[in-house]
Amino acid sequence: MWHSKRTQPGGCRLPPNRPVFWIDCDTGVDDALALLYAATLGNVELAGVSTVAGNCPLADATANTLAVLALAGWHDIPVHPGATGPLCSGGRHAPEVHGADGLAGLRATLPAPREQARAKPAAAAIWRACRARPGEMTLVATGPLTNLAAALASDPGLPALARQVVVMGGAVAAPGNVGPAVEFNVGFDPEAARAVFAAPWPVTLVPLDVTMGVLVGLEELRRLEEAGRRSDVARFSAAALRGYMASYKQRTGLAAAPLHDPLALAVAVDPSLARATELPVDVETRGELTRGMVVADRRAQRRPDDRPHRVRVCLEVDAARALQLLVASWGG
Ligand code: RIB
Ligand code: CA
Repeated sequence: MWHSKRTQPGGCRLPPNRPVFWIDCDTGVDDALALLYAATLGNVELAGVSTVAGNCPLADATANTLAVLALAGWHDIPVHPGATGPLCSGGRHAPEVHGADGLAGLRATLPAPREQARAKPAAAAIWRACRARPGEMTLVATGPLTNLAAALASDPGLPALARQVVVMGGAVAAPGNVGPAVEFNVGFDPEAARAVFAAPWPVTLVPLDVTMGVLVGLEELRRLEEAGRRSDVARFSAAALRGYMASYKQRTGLAAAPLHDPLALAVAVDPSLARATELPVDVETRGELTRGMVVADRRAQRRPDDRPHRVRVCLEVDAARALQLLVASWGG
């Protein structure tokens, strides 16, 4: 059995003016690893977590989030369930990647969380949190953007209140993972992604172009399994990654596990991990073959009617440094 333990240094004075984060996730395996990484960050405050349907149905994403926060010893983080599906149409879960429960089949082996999900729905929780801390909140989205789009619709003043938005999603020059040019999160809810990218707030996009470069391999897995003899977080991380890696190998032949969501959070914490370019970004919502494609205008000479608002798109990453700090955060 797993024995949860607090990973946050108990009782230590935390630095004033710490960065304040809110994570919106569709807790599958890599979202869970992002949450476990977050739990080791003594210099960051996690104001709350909201869950969204994506990798798995909303109920599983919420239960997985509560279980992983409990494993990390993080018992006082409010978890707000959000959207059960995309704004419009489509959206297929990914049990073939994340397992039937969304957590590589491991949720039943984790300690029962003490916390319950909160009654306030995600969209209201997000904008209220930003209104309570104007200019402070970094919103990190590691799933479909349905909750953030709903929060924008509820409170059009939200962009002026959030400090920034960091999104794991899209594929700009890289191939997609649910279609030739479509990445899962944006492909699950293209309308929501379009609304989030078009809103007048600072958005940093962490696309497959960089996340596919941060891969857990057999060596990192072996280190985590060794550490798992002494640490429940390492043991869970190794088991989850082994399942995630197996699904990846089956589909690509590559014995590796891409750290999509942990990298997005790591970039939010330390932007020096990636090199970003400001580009006009939009989302295809009607293409027969390209619905959900992120279209970034990388032309040198741009049209005069260019979109006034640009997104910071991460196109390069210090993969070795990112991989090392993430695996170390899980105990490997
Ligand atoms: O395309 C990868 C993204 O889609 C990750 O966030 C993964 O968890 C899924 O949500
Ligand atoms: Ca995710």
